[in-house]
Amino acid sequence: MKFFLDTADVSEIREGVAMGLVDGVTTNPSLVAKTGRPFRKVIEEICGLVPGPVSAETVSEDAAGMLAEARELAAIAPQVTVKIPMTLEGLKATKACTQAGIKTNVTLVFQPLQGLLAAKAGATFVSPFVGRLDDVGTPGMDMVADLKEMLDNYGYPTEIIVASIRHTIHVHQAAMLGAHICTVPLKILRGLVQHPLTDSGIRKFLEDSKKIPKG
Ligand code: G3P
Repeated sequence: MKFFLDTADVSEIREGVAMGLVDGVTTNPSLVAKTGRPFRKVIEEICGLVPGPVSAETVSEDAAGMLAEARELAAIAPQVTVKIPMTLEGLKATKACTQAGIKTNVTLVFQPLQGLLAAKAGATFVSPFVGRLDDVGTPGMDMVADLKEMLDNYGYPTEIIVASIRHTIHVHQAAMLGAHICTVPLKILRGLVQHPLTDSGIRKFLEDSKKIPKG
């Protein structure tokens, strides 16, 4: 399974990269706004830190505008993946990007058929938002299960990025379903490493190691 960091904070990205667990980065306008920095500068800097896919989101509402943004974003660095919202205009833009050889990530997917359409439009990635569905009382991971089965049924190469992840159980469920990628905040990546029984086990082994006679 691949892990992407879901952040636009370059210090978090540096830390994640140093952990050796980061295969890519996803951003969105809300995450970039939180940094207080100009959009293009943030994306350029992230691309300098991470060789894998870096999602940068379009903000136009029509396909022509999205495509124009996509061309500009894709020119920043080869790993830029253009994030396009799941609308009819977004699907048109995704198809045009695919034809132009621009990698895409269709985002804000909340039901499996939206994801199927994204795959049909040639999306490189599709991002189902599990946490936001859970928030409104609909099991987000059920959508991922159905979407994975649909893409497998037709052999689409589109990779699923499980997004809007709120906790480690989401990551566990995504891995059980064979989703290709989880995009996670740094604190969840750290949380995947840790277990209190690992920590107490290490402490005990270290204490006992001191009791081993030297020789
Ligand atoms: O980057 C998209 C997605 O992961 C957003 O998550 O926490 O805002 O629902 P969240």
